[in-house]
Amino acid sequence: STLNIVGLVGSLRRGAFTRQMMETLPDLAPEGMRITLADIGHLPFYNEDLKEDGKGPEAVRAFNRLIGEADGLIVGSPEYNRSPPAVLKNAIDWLSKEPEAVLAGKPVMIATQSPGQLGGILSNYHLRQVLSVTGAIFITGGEVAITGIGKKVSDGKISDTDTRDYLTSHLRRLSALIEAHR
Ligand code: FNR
Repeated sequence: STLNIVGLVGSLRRGAFTRQMMETLPDLAPEGMRITLADIGHLPFYNEDLKEDGKGPEAVRAFNRLIGEADGLIVGSPEYNRSPPAVLKNAIDWLSKEPEAVLAGKPVMIATQSPGQLGGILSNYHLRQVLSVTGAIFITGGEVAITGIGKKVSDGKISDTDTRDYLTSHLRRLSALIEAHR
């Protein structure tokens, strides 16, 4: 059966390198994996006052259902001041407090990028810190932290061959992680 993977794009701006990175992934997905990108920019800031019966507002509930139904998650993020952007942290915070705890045991691939020389690696590890509290499981023994991304994209996707190969291998590892935890 098809693996249903949801990807989050941690940058809201049009033409974001993070979006270009994430838009590349469906082309590289192994046979039997379908990757769709979900929006997070419309979610309100986390606020318990917005909850009823311990559940968030409808936008949060719909997002929570989407992630709950996914076999795996890909979290794509830039690095803002050595951390993931607030919009992405906010989305994770909502999921972490909904009653279904959809992130618990969820296989996750974390992918960061930067136009600079560190590839958002501190954002990448900050995401691991945050996600580990939720019980999510992620690929270890290597990171996707794409450096100098400005020189590795064209026509809205990653064109650099080595980077595409590396992403392809990581998607296979995500698939293996999902199979291992079935
Ligand atoms: C940045 N940028 C950045 N880059 C980096 O490598 N490490 C960092 O800590 C930061 N900090 C930072 C803070 C803020 C508020 C902004 C707006 C930017 C630069 C960042 O990598 C660059 O703007 C990317 O293009 C952002 O990713 P998207 O939006 O293209 O996906």
